[in-house]
Amino acid sequence: MAAPGENMRVNADRLWDSLMEMAKIGPGVAGGNNRQTLTDADAEGRTLFKRWCEAAGMTLAVDKMGTMFATRPGTDPDALPVYIGSHLDTQPTGGKYDGVLGVLSGLEVIRSMNDLGIRTKHPVVVTNWTNEEGARFAPAMLASGVFAGAIDLDYAYSRKDPDGKTFGDELKRIGWVGEEEVGARKMHAYFEYHIEQGPILEAENRQIGVVTHCQGLWWLEFTLTGREAHTGSTPMNMRVNAGLAMARIVEMVQTVAMENQPGCVGGVGQMFFSPNSRNVLPGKVVFTVDIRSPDQAKLDGMRATIEARAAEICAALGVGCSVEAVGHFDPVTFDPDLVASVRKAAEDLGYRHMNIISGAGHDACWAAKVAPATMIMCPCVGGLSHNEAEDISKEWASGGADVLLRAVVETAGI
Ligand code: GLV
Ligand code: MN
Ligand code: MN
Ligand code: MN
Repeated sequence: MAAPGENMRVNADRLWDSLMEMAKIGPGVAGGNNRQTLTDADAEGRTLFKRWCEAAGMTLAVDKMGTMFATRPGTDPDALPVYIGSHLDTQPTGGKYDGVLGVLSGLEVIRSMNDLGIRTKHPVVVTNWTNEEGARFAPAMLASGVFAGAIDLDYAYSRKDPDGKTFGDELKRIGWVGEEEVGARKMHAYFEYHIEQGPILEAENRQIGVVTHCQGLWWLEFTLTGREAHTGSTPMNMRVNAGLAMARIVEMVQTVAMENQPGCVGGVGQMFFSPNSRNVLPGKVVFTVDIRSPDQAKLDGMRATIEARAAEICAALGVGCSVEAVGHFDPVTFDPDLVASVRKAAEDLGYRHMNIISGAGHDACWAAKVAPATMIMCPCVGGLSHNEAEDISKEWASGGADVLLRAVVETAGI
């Protein structure tokens, strides 16, 4: 087999058509998608992906977390596979590309290798990880976390959605509990291609982000206990107002993040008031703080400060406060050799590129615990993601997939 030549690119139209086809499953309310994990729409998306993989000559295996592994054999029976992974699940008001681009670009890499007659020494496995988003069941990147040994399978199965349904029951209900033990596989290398989900590449006019690191994260679930009481007749000095405590903590999280600039973010995206009635002071409030930084000391420092200040805020209002960490991973440094292979692929293709740190979490963060791993990014319009208006161009999509194809072929060997 000759060395990868100029013509080694993916089929941009086919990749785009597949993205548009998948986006028809679990449509959102504003042009994006609601294909949350372990819903009927997720099952439908999985079935379509399985069909496409089998049509491309791959063999599908599924593990006990429902993660899908589609394998294209290599020429060396002893060689460990090169993995390409991401996720087909979406946020409740998700875009068409977050995660999906990475999985379908993996499929497109296989289809393109088939077209170009490329046989690799190492097998190549395209992976759809279950519950990357963590929107329905916290934490995010649940299946890759179990795969990496950081999260127990039983704990994962016991996670509940806001309606009280468990992950384990829902996985069974949609018929995607596999036979394979989770984490049984060894990886030669792991690649993940994703939209940036931030504004940097577009602003810098680059087609490719060479991802060197990913910032670490804590998700802190606060449960505040006040006293349900009439909002009209209860004097201001007799209220034990869990909602007020929450409001002060939300403001405080913003302050702590600002005190830790540059390089830290923090915010609250989810809150539940109970009983959630206009004229009842909430007796119970549950909300989740999401804090992130590429700097371990700053990340852990922010967590300690937020917990200490929250305790003071609640004490002053007589509100009970408990905190549970429902999601965590440390900042990640990706494998230097794989990072170099992505950079070289972008250079060989003549694509404008730059190093970038991922602001979002990805399954690559857990894969990096058990294998050499890295990521590739493409821009997205206005940096917008976790929004149905998330948008990319066909050229951006295929540019990153071209880089993925080259880096995978180089790593898998021909
Ligand atoms: C998951 O998608 C995250 O980065 O929060
Ligand atoms: Mn994603
Ligand atoms: Mn996401
Ligand atoms: Mn993510």
